[in-house]
Amino acid sequence: MNAVEKTIRELQAMLREHNYRYYVLDDPLISDTEYDKLFRRLLDLERQYPEYIGPDSPSLRVGADVLQNFGTLEHRIPMLSLANALNEDELKEFHARMVKFTGEPQTELVGEPKLDGLGVELIYKNGVFTAGSTRGDGYTGEDITANLRTIRQIPLRLQGEGFPPLLEVRGEVIISKEHFIRLNREREKSGEKLFANPRNAAAGSLRQLDPKITAKRPLEIFIYAPGKMEEGRFKTHWEFLQQLKRWDFPVNPENTLLRGETEMIAYFQRMETERESLPYDIDGVVIKVNDLALQEKMGMRTRTPRWAIAGKFKPRQEVTQIESIDVQVGRTGILTPVANLSPVRIGGVTVRRATLHNQDEIERKDIRVGDWVLIERAGDVIPKVIKVITERRSSVTKPYRLPDHCPVCGAKVQRIDDGVALKCIHRECPAQLKNGIRHFASKAAMDIEGLGEKIVDQLVETGLLRAFTDLYRLRREDLLELERFGERSAENLIEAIALSRSRSLKNVIYALGIPNVGEYLARVLAEYFGSLDALLQAEVAALTDIEDIGEIVAESIVKFVSDPDNRSMIKALQAEGIDPRSERKGESPLKGKTFVFTGTLESMTRDAAKEQIRELGGRASGTVSARTDYLVAGSEAGSKLDKAEKLKIAVLDEAAFLSLIEEIRAKK
Ligand code: IVH
Repeated sequence: MNAVEKTIRELQAMLREHNYRYYVLDDPLISDTEYDKLFRRLLDLERQYPEYIGPDSPSLRVGADVLQNFGTLEHRIPMLSLANALNEDELKEFHARMVKFTGEPQTELVGEPKLDGLGVELIYKNGVFTAGSTRGDGYTGEDITANLRTIRQIPLRLQGEGFPPLLEVRGEVIISKEHFIRLNREREKSGEKLFANPRNAAAGSLRQLDPKITAKRPLEIFIYAPGKMEEGRFKTHWEFLQQLKRWDFPVNPENTLLRGETEMIAYFQRMETERESLPYDIDGVVIKVNDLALQEKMGMRTRTPRWAIAGKFKPRQEVTQIESIDVQVGRTGILTPVANLSPVRIGGVTVRRATLHNQDEIERKDIRVGDWVLIERAGDVIPKVIKVITERRSSVTKPYRLPDHCPVCGAKVQRIDDGVALKCIHRECPAQLKNGIRHFASKAAMDIEGLGEKIVDQLVETGLLRAFTDLYRLRREDLLELERFGERSAENLIEAIALSRSRSLKNVIYALGIPNVGEYLARVLAEYFGSLDALLQAEVAALTDIEDIGEIVAESIVKFVSDPDNRSMIKALQAEGIDPRSERKGESPLKGKTFVFTGTLESMTRDAAKEQIRELGGRASGTVSARTDYLVAGSEAGSKLDKAEKLKIAVLDEAAFLSLIEEIRAKK
């Protein structure tokens, strides 16, 4: 092995180890920047010496080329499904069958969460990941090797020793609840269709013809079953699971070895209660016979094994009655109808309210006060009404209509947007003011500790607060006159308010409550504009040049900052001394320069290139326009290159781009 090959192997091994520590063990040894450095060195060497890349290089994780369609892969052993037990009694019947079969009073079992994702098979030859597929119809699946490679938890080369020359394992690809919510939030912003649940999000991400898209999705995996494997290697399923860990596979930490019926039922109950607090969705538990020889003896029915069963949790739906309907007025004045329900327990929590969204939704489902309704709690969202049980409707109910006056301030409401939402357009509506101030004071905004809901209510109702800036004029004496305030708490709040004057620009922009501008976009805007004054000059065309901002969001920002009332609110904050500049570090020659990338870069991913630009104070945009300063064209550049040439924009090839960056870094 020559020196170059040795270095490449060494870098690959280091990255593999760090990758495993980060994604599987959740216990990294080095920082992200250090990791990136190693990664870049590897990419650099591999570009010069592609012959040493090999099938298991961590560099392959960023995603290969786009496919025309998926090939198919036959499963050497069919991927079966599981029979269901719908309640504890059916689980007990399962155990009773084991007792009958073995003649022993207790069977050793393994309990595992039943993950609600997409089943896949991974194939390793001599310890190297060579192919992977979906379950498909159980006999043949789709070849999604390139996409699976992008999942950081999947080892591309097995660690430890003693793996058979051919090893097939099976597991579930999932997306966590948190990442699911985040992914949908991003899709909402960019106007893409939302995923109905984490399972769909995982499936949609895995079945992408462009692996680079899959690479960006936060997919995870747990391995839970063997496919084809050398016979007689393990005595028990539990032993197999332990060995998987030694080979670097991610194995669910909730898996538990169980003895007999009592422990099995206890596990089922425990997982049903813990379901809520797990970071991912499960819809039951899987109970498997531990002894592999016994599994073999018991065999299968047509499509399901006799030695395993899925214990399904109760669906999180329940029937209850709507006692009344409240109409809430949010920070932006939008009216939201909320049903007050006869309290009902669903999956361990008591549900008292369900959102009814808007008038259209109420009409579509014909929801009335007094109705019996089927409600569901899905994921972490507020319960919703699935349908009305019209058979149980009493004859005295009548169709529900949202009021045409604001329930809080009495002003007339208007239909807005797509004609679905109703909005109170009264500026001084106390509901809007209260919610606006709550938002203003929240953690990611001005972070005013101790300004709780009840206090905001009091301050607004007593007329002490009519605008954000009134907060900064509050005196100890004002607070002392209110309920619940003593010397100490009044002083603390005044101090917390004073402290909030020094919040950074991103916090202040977020605090303004611009529709569609969340924490993330507030940061983007802060970096882009650098000051409130610059934000007040925002124009749609310039905004849409920013990578994460589309037409809708751009328009809502411009609408907000050109509104006279909002302008005076912002000016008042500035006059109050709240006028931060963005926390940009030093001047850079790239400051304010906009880069657009097209085609494939050899030395780094496009995301990494954009990150470098941002680090140096520049901007990365997705579209070429008159405001573009540089187009960086990799290989197979497309229409953006033509457009840039037409607009006479400076075009850099990859080498020129790299030397530009290096030059600037050298000067710094
Ligand atoms: S074992 C013969 N274990 O459930 C045993 N499956 O209906 C085959 N699943 O398609 C699967 N979590 O995608 C097994 N811990 C777990 C599982 C699990 C989820 C899925 C799997 C399979 C389906 C079976």
